[in-house]
Amino acid sequence: MVRDINLADKGVLQIEWASRRMPVLARIREEFSRRKPLKGLRISACLHVTKETAVLVRTLMAGGAEVSLASSNPMSCQDDVAAALAAEGVNVYAWRGQTKEEYYKCIETVLSHKPRVVLDDGADLIVTLHQETGGFLTDVFGGCEETTTGVLRLKAMEKTGSLKIPVIAVNNAQTKWDFDNVYGTGQSTLDGVLRATNMLLAGRTVVVAGYGHCGRGIANRAKGMGSQVIVTEVDPIRALRAVMDGFKVMPMVEAAKIGDLFITATGNVDVVRAEHMILMKDGAVMCNAGHFNVEISLEDLEKLSISKRRIRDNLDEYTLVNGRRLYLLAEGRLVNLVAAEGHPSEVMDMSFANQALSVRYLVEKASMLEPHIYDVPLEVDRRVAELKLETIDVQIDNLTEKQRKYLESYETGT
Ligand code: ADE
Repeated sequence: MVRDINLADKGVLQIEWASRRMPVLARIREEFSRRKPLKGLRISACLHVTKETAVLVRTLMAGGAEVSLASSNPMSCQDDVAAALAAEGVNVYAWRGQTKEEYYKCIETVLSHKPRVVLDDGADLIVTLHQETGGFLTDVFGGCEETTTGVLRLKAMEKTGSLKIPVIAVNNAQTKWDFDNVYGTGQSTLDGVLRATNMLLAGRTVVVAGYGHCGRGIANRAKGMGSQVIVTEVDPIRALRAVMDGFKVMPMVEAAKIGDLFITATGNVDVVRAEHMILMKDGAVMCNAGHFNVEISLEDLEKLSISKRRIRDNLDEYTLVNGRRLYLLAEGRLVNLVAAEGHPSEVMDMSFANQALSVRYLVEKASMLEPHIYDVPLEVDRRVAELKLETIDVQIDNLTEKQRKYLESYETGT
C-alpha cells in the first residue's frame, strides 16, 4: 500500500542516486548475492522509507530475504521510493501523511507477514510485536534497533523482564553513532531548517537543547554556518563538554529570551514549554530533531496561542497571547526527515551496513542469543570502518610486531 505506484520510475532514480554514494552496502550486497546468507528469511522492517532505506532493502533481498516495510514515522516516507520498492516486490505499507491509526495499522500489517527478524527505528514495531495477540512473537528470533530513542525504550523493556527477543543495538555501534548521529543529524537538521525557512544562519543565535551525539552535531554545524550557539543540558558531563567545545551553556529559561532558532535533540518530553515560549522573541523559530514529536510541547503552544496559520509547507505561525509570533517547523516532528530527506547517503551507508551485517549475525548466532540488548559485535563495527576507508581510498598504518607486543605488555621500556 503506497501513495501512488506511478511514482515508481522517479523513485528508482532516487535509489540509484543514493546507491552511488553507499559503496559499503554495495560490497555487502555483492557478497550477499553470491552467498545468500538470508535465503528465505522473512524480515519485517519499520524504518524511515527513504532512498537510503531502499538501498538497505535491496541488499537484504540480494541476500535472499523477503522484506515487508512500514514507515517509522507518519510523515517521513518518500512516496516515490515507496512506490519503486513496491514495484520491485517488497511488501510496502507506507505513505507520507498517515494518521496515527493508519501508522499502527501498517505496523500490524508488516507483522502479519510472520517475520523471523524485525528491523526497527524507534521501537514501535518491537513494542507492538510484544503487545499484539496474533502470536507472531514466537516466530521472531531477533531484531535490530536503529536509533537512540528505540534502544532506550527496549532497555526499559529488558529491565522489567518484558523483552522476549534478542535485539542488536545498531545505534550503539561506533560506526553508527559517531557518524550518523553527529554528522548525519547535524547536516540534515540544518538542511530541514533551511528548506522550511530559507533563513540566514550567520549571525543568528541558535539554541540547541541536548548535547548528546545529535546535539553535538547540530551545534557544530550551526557554528560552522556562522551562528552563535547556545547549548542547554541537564547532564553535567555533557554540559561541561559543550563548554569546553566553546559553546555557551545556560538554562532554557535564559536561552529562551535570546534565541532566534531553537532545535531540540534530547529524546525527552516538554523540553520547550509554555514558560519558555512566553519569553521568546517575536519571530523565533522552533523545531525538533529528536525521534518523537514530544520535545516541543504542542499542547502548550496551542494553549498560549490566539491564532495559527500555515505560511508554507512545514512552517506554521502561532500568534501568542502576548502578540508575538512564533514559528514551528514540521509540526514538531523530526525536521530532517519531514522537511528534508534525512541523513545523507554517505553516513547511512555505515549505519545500514551495520544493519545488514547484524541481520546476518542474528541468523548465524540465533540459537546462542538470549532476550537481551546486544551491542553490534566489535568485528562487525571494525569491518564497516575498514570497508568505508577502503571505498573512500584512505589507507592507514598497521601495528608493527614490536608495537603490538608493547601494547600487550606492562613494561614501559624506560
Ligand atoms: N534516519 C535518518 N536519516 C535517514 C535516512 N536518510 N534514511 C533512513 N533513516 C534515516
